[in-house]
Amino acid sequence: MKGSEIRERFLKYFEGKGHRRMRSSSLVPEADPTLLFTNAGMVQFKNVFTGDEKLDFVRAVSSQKCLRVSGKHNDLENVGVTARHHTFFEMLGNFSFGDYFKEDAIFFGWEFLTKEMGLDKEKLWITIFDEDDEADEIWKTKIGVDPERIVRMGEKDNFWAMGDTGPCGPCSEIHIDQGEEMSCGKNCGIGLCDCDRYLELWNLVFMQFNRDQSGEMTPLPAPSIDTGMGLERIAAVVQGVKSNYDSDLFTPIIKTVEEIAGISNKDDKSGVSIRAISDHCRSQAFLIADGILPSNEGRGYVLRRIIGRAARH
Ligand code: ALA
Repeated sequence: MKGSEIRERFLKYFEGKGHRRMRSSSLVPEADPTLLFTNAGMVQFKNVFTGDEKLDFVRAVSSQKCLRVSGKHNDLENVGVTARHHTFFEMLGNFSFGDYFKEDAIFFGWEFLTKEMGLDKEKLWITIFDEDDEADEIWKTKIGVDPERIVRMGEKDNFWAMGDTGPCGPCSEIHIDQGEEMSCGKNCGIGLCDCDRYLELWNLVFMQFNRDQSGEMTPLPAPSIDTGMGLERIAAVVQGVKSNYDSDLFTPIIKTVEEIAGISNKDDKSGVSIRAISDHCRSQAFLIADGILPSNEGRGYVLRRIIGRAARH
């Protein structure tokens, strides 16, 4: 199944559940000085979550262009080194604005992965926020996940916030066990190491608070849902490859870089560079398409650094 088909099936699945299909917003957040770049699908809905903006629908779905190269969510140093990090990626997400909450969000996520994408239930692991007994109960009794594959984690891993301020809440993630052969050794496991064996696929955020500049959290007008799944990751998993860079979303770019460089992406020494160049090509292209040009400050400076980094590689 090609990446483009997965994206379309995601959007269609949630349309079938009453969600309004929304276009991706620009990588440059509209009128939001707290963020340099759009870093998640929820960014265009930030004011809807806080109650400052009203829409005439309460469910939405999108595939959002995201960039994670600055601020709270910054994956730059991992790009090319791991099989799963990018500067630019697409985030598939479904959203509820005070409509459905935990139970439906969990059900939709599970159904999409196991029925629509055909993933093996036994390979899926769940993380939940330490104090979230409700999510634990839903995963165990309503979905039937073996309690041994439900892991409780602290705030660092299972409490999601867009930035230092803004909507936030506890979250539950769906991971896939990619098998022994991907393991980094005997201490491998969710929360124990950072290797590619247990791959986080989808983050379900139970949006409940708005954090202000002093760090104080006030409840949102209504509990809401914000989810995010990297299209590049789910594509790699569905296509049975162990690296996002081996999915069809990347192979044409990788191939071109390999041809120009005369080196293979599987080469231990040069592979990281080939993958970093391929990643950076995408972020440069999408940034420029969204109106950013290289410069000495702000967003333009980030673009300049990405181009410089790719050139160095
Ligand atoms: N906003 C959440 C994330 O980016 C879904 O992980």
